[in-house]
Parts: sequence; C-alpha cells; structure tokens
Amino acid sequence: MINRVWMSWREQKDLAAYVEKIASFDEPTLFRMMPEMREMLSNILEPATFEAIAGFMKSDGTIIRVCGLPFDKALPETPYGGYIENEEIPVATVMQLALFAVAGIMPISYNRENRGLLFRHVVPTKTAASKVSSHGSKFTLDMHVSNPILPITPEATDGVSASPEILSFYGLRSDPDVFTEVVELDEVLEQLPQHVIEALQEKKYLFRMPSSFGGSEVKGPFSIIGMKDGKFFNRTDMDTVIPTDYAALQVLNAFMQATKKVRNLHRFQLGTGDMLFFKNQRTLHARQKFEVRYNGLDRWMMRLYGTATPERHHWVPDQEPFVGATY
Ligand SMILES: [Fe+2]
Repeated sequence: MINRVWMSWREQKDLAAYVEKIASFDEPTLFRMMPEMREMLSNILEPATFEAIAGFMKSDGTIIRVCGLPFDKALPETPYGGYIENEEIPVATVMQLALFAVAGIMPISYNRENRGLLFRHVVPTKTAASKVSSHGSKFTLDMHVSNPILPITPEATDGVSASPEILSFYGLRSDPDVFTEVVELDEVLEQLPQHVIEALQEKKYLFRMPSSFGGSEVKGPFSIIGMKDGKFFNRTDMDTVIPTDYAALQVLNAFMQATKKVRNLHRFQLGTGDMLFFKNQRTLHARQKFEVRYNGLDRWMMRLYGTATPERHHWVPDQEPFVGATY
C-alpha cells in the first residue's frame, strides 16, 4: 500500500523559510538538530500532513511518497564524482532529515560504506558506469534489497549493525526515461506455493559483500526471507547471492519470477523536491539501465538509510553517532 502526501504551496514556502534560518549543514550538526526539526515541522505542516508522515513506521504501509517539498533553486551540475558538499544543496539536505525526524526514523550510515556519510548521491558516475551499483547506469539493477549481508529484522544482530529498515530517496533531477521500481514483498509471496515460502526460510544462501562495501568476503549461510510478528522480511539480491545447492537456486529463481508477476509494480519518477521512502526489507526495488549524457543535467537523487530500532545498530567508537559497525 502506498501512502501519498502532497505539500501545499504554503507548506512548501514555510519549509523553505525554515531552511534559510539554518547556518551549518554538516551531518553531525544537523543530526543533533533533529528534535528541533520535528518541533518546527509540527508547527509548519498541516496536522493531516504531519500525521500521515508520523504514522508511517507503525502503519502496515510499506511505501510513502511526499510531493512538493521545497528544493534548491540554484542546483549545481549533477556531481559525476558521486560527492558534493551539503552546503551546495542545503534545502535537499535539511528536508530529508526533517522528514525523518517527523517520521521517527533515525538516519544511519555504515562504517564500510560511503565513507560513513549519511547522504549518498545516486548519480551515474563514470568510474561505476559498468558496475551493478547505485552509481551505475549501463546495467539494470534487478529487484533487490539494500545491504542484504546485514541481519534482517527477524534475526539477532550479534555485534553487526542491522540491515536498513528504511531507504529514502529525494529527487533533485529526474530523467523522463528512468524510474525507481518497487514491489511489496507480501504481493510477491502471494504468488508462491507454501513449499517455496518454506524453502526460502532455509539458511542455504551465502552472500558476497556488496560492491559499495569494498572487499569481496562471503558471509552466511542466510535465509532469503524470515518472519517476525506475523510479517515477512527479505534480503534478496541476485548480484551478491550464492545459493549453496541446486534446489536453493531453483527456489530463488521461482521467487524472482514472482517479483515480475505482482499485481502492482510501483514505478516512481521523483521530480525535484519529491521524496520517497519505503521499508527496505518489506519491499524489493529495481532500476532499469539508462543512457547518460554527462551534460551536467543527468538523473540525480539523494539516498538516506534509516531505522526505527537504533538498539539493533552497534556504533563505532570515536565516529559520528550514526555510523554503524558492520563486519
Ligand atoms: Fe538499491
């Protein structure tokens, strides 16, 4: 189920005015300001808007799309190196954290990924063009879950920070030909017979480190899906999974086929100032390959991970308070 939230012109204008009052955009400072952001937004947003965002984590909904947030008027060229200072895009930076604050989601990063920074720029980079990566473009990213190697919600963490519960994107530049596609896990599982669902819960899958982590160690064996409090969670990722036998491969193939037969394939194109967040392990997401022009105006989104259960993350001593330890 998708929750849709539309900002009004008045809300957009008042949110932009709030960002104007902020002087520092480094991640630790903004992170500490999140309680204040929540307070400010409770005054700026209409009660119905605020409640729709604040109620998302506890709701059965897995996807929420917010349209009409303020945006940076003087947007720099798409950062093909994959990095840009937050000061250059202050509105985008603050808006994502402010909406997380309203939703009760703690932003997180991981020590082995993205230099421990919260924001990752989803842009086509020249160096990663041919990689199966959020920085890639030449290859389709098949339906997957982010950071499958980390413990999913039904599993104990044992010193390793949990897989992100929330994945969010804020649109800076859209490409009319490129969509973020999301399917809901429950709809995928509806397509499958009980014996396949049971087999997906067997620990028969090794996983290689995602390319964004550097290194290529293998961990596991893990299951593809697991259940907690009557809900299924998953860690599908065809790019890094290694089934341990032929039967496990067949089961995984049946599951991937089912992702293509769901009733609803949600396709999103994030306009400038639109934000999408979804429950990472309760959905799967994908992106088709696309043509890059390197003319400064290519597709650009900002990604942020989050959690509502910070106790499942293990913070790295002497690093910022949102950097989780992994393997
Ligand atoms: Fe992804």
